[in-house]
Amino acid sequence: MAERKNNLHLETQFVHATGSGEPPVGQPTATPVYAAATYTYESMDQMDRAFAGEIEGYVYTRHGNPTVNIFEKAICAVESGATARAYGSGMAAIHAALFACELSPGSVVLASQDLYGATTNLLLNIFGSFGIKTLFADFSNLEEVRGKTLESKPRVLIAETISNPLLKVCDVDACAEIAHSSGARLIIDNTFASPYLCQPLTHGADLVVHSATKFLSGHADAMGGIAVSRDELDRVALTGVMKLAGEASRYSFGILSRVPPSQNATRSLSPGSTRKSHGAPPATTTCNRALGAFAGKPGSRSSLSSSVPSRATRWPPAE
Ligand SMILES: Cc1ncc(COP(=O)(O)O)c(C=O)c1O
Repeated sequence: MAERKNNLHLETQFVHATGSGEPPVGQPTATPVYAAATYTYESMDQMDRAFAGEIEGYVYTRHGNPTVNIFEKAICAVESGATARAYGSGMAAIHAALFACELSPGSVVLASQDLYGATTNLLLNIFGSFGIKTLFADFSNLEEVRGKTLESKPRVLIAETISNPLLKVCDVDACAEIAHSSGARLIIDNTFASPYLCQPLTHGADLVVHSATKFLSGHADAMGGIAVSRDELDRVALTGVMKLAGEASRYSFGILSRVPPSQNATRSLSPGSTRKSHGAPPATTTCNRALGAFAGKPGSRSSLSSSVPSRATRWPPAE
């Protein structure tokens, strides 16, 4: 009969046998999914300091997870942001971006009339119930946007780079100028363009949001969202929403991080001209130039839209 290797009680052995595993020797080439909900430290003192934010360290996955952070850093970099936080869905990311703009009862949001339906719903039914008023404008008509901005003094302007579902292209530079001249902030939902085609922060937007469920994933198998800000000060508000309302799934973000997200986007979105370049990224993709190639002139309805007979069912366009 084989001898027992130690004298520990069997249940104690079960507890300690697997532990959480040592980091492997050799760097994994794909992002590991850190399933742990909680983290352990050498001492209680160290743990207390990590909880207090005095030292870097993960404490609880709703407050931050290494898998999710890898994705945040990647998208923050390609969007030229100062800070980014990921969420369980695109809607949670939009909620967080609006929250970061310090809306309060009586605040006005000037929204594109072509926003994705759930965003309109969020503004009217959730924020609306807290006394925040949403007005709408046709963001392809810049005079209308300017007039309503001057008249209603909104705290936030919000639009999509390429709208869902009508594929109207937003002139981000012009909208940023209109917003800032009235002291408002501009949120751009960059879901349909992806950072592959446009980086709205480099065109004056203050916050960018994505439904990562779409082109950032590219494979329809992960759900998530991200908000990126040009201002590090937004980190507190964006993190607050992440901690309290929209924690990102580390399983989805393991999938989302499996290749550089820009490659995910590249695979699913690259327009014919870039597809012919055998996957090489475009040199410098300026928003209007890239969107012009993809979808017609900024501010106009996309040339693609005429070949899109019905909502979503024909998106993305067939290869
Ligand atoms: C432009 C746009 N923004 C936001 C969302 C919401 O994203 P999610 O479904 O990941 O919450 C969608 C979803 O289709 C979308 O198309």
